[in-house]
Amino acid sequence: MIPQRLASIGYAPRMAQRESFVAKYGPWAVVTGASSGIGAEFARQLAARGLSVVLVARRLDRLEALGAELFATHGTEVRIQPCDLADEDGAATLIDGVADLDVGLLVNNAGVGLKGRLVDLDPEVLRRLVEVNCQAPLALAHGFGRRLVARGRGGMVIVASTGGFQALPWSAAYGASKGFDLLLGEALAVELRTDGVDVLTLAPGGTDTEGPMNTGVDPAKVPGKLMQVGPVVKLALDSIGRRTLVIPGAGNRAAAWATRLVPRTVAARAAGRIMRRVIS
Ligand SMILES: NC(=O)c1ccc[n+]([C@@H]2O[C@H](COP(=O)([O-])OP(=O)(O)OC[C@H]3O[C@@H](n4cnc5c(N)ncnc54)[C@H](OP(=O)(O)O)[C@@H]3O)[C@@H](O)[C@H]2O)c1
Repeated sequence: MIPQRLASIGYAPRMAQRESFVAKYGPWAVVTGASSGIGAEFARQLAARGLSVVLVARRLDRLEALGAELFATHGTEVRIQPCDLADEDGAATLIDGVADLDVGLLVNNAGVGLKGRLVDLDPEVLRRLVEVNCQAPLALAHGFGRRLVARGRGGMVIVASTGGFQALPWSAAYGASKGFDLLLGEALAVELRTDGVDVLTLAPGGTDTEGPMNTGVDPAKVPGKLMQVGPVVKLALDSIGRRTLVIPGAGNRAAAWATRLVPRTVAARAAGRIMRRVIS
């Protein structure tokens, strides 16, 4: 309910938007990969929009610091859920761990990158990448998706990448994993559309987080400017329920669409040239 006093001085539209966001996607949101970068920003912006948040990642100290910040800033109710999503039972443990909460929004964001020629990489690193980037989002979309369908309302954000629109030589498994996320999200948006569950796929281009740096990407060599996390996440949260795929940044959108205009081998070679430059 919006108090009459606030409605009369112009706060009504913003409060009404916030109330309808909480009614549709609240009371609890689960955010994977909340210990840094895009995931931490999702947690901050969801808390600002009035949701309670479950913070999921491995680095407990980071999650606790963010939880304290959200409580101090917004009075947000927070649950810290440490979890290694590369473990075979990581996603199932997470789903069980929040079985007592009324979850209205899943943000499938945790992800890892890698660089180098596939045949030179450690197979265990590749296995872990597929677990975190593909298997866990799939299991979480399945587990939470069932709960959202049963309650007849809610949402899901799947964080893919512009790296998933074409092959990505020198980061082949990462690119393929993000192609998986992209197609998973787009398909679920259609499957769940009549169940009251909004599915949004977010495909960021280069974004200023510790993720690309940890992978060995030199930000100075990335074409275009890295985007800040704030606008990337705001676009996603403003778009859920209205659109099914968003690519933040005009340059990223143009590059993604350009891949559809050329033969796939041309797109793969062009992406490979860029990757070699940014990781060398
Ligand atoms: N930054 C970019 O340029 C960019 C571009 C396109 C797409 N993306 C996508 O955006 C998402 C977030 O990436 P970011 O840029 O924000 O990178 P980031 O700052 O490195 O964040 C990655 C998050 O994933 C979590 N994570 C990694 N491995 C995990 C595991 N085994 N179990 C649980 N959590 C794990 C990390 O937490 P812990 O280490 O604490 O576990 C961290 O919170 C990823 O899916 C990435 O592919 C990023």
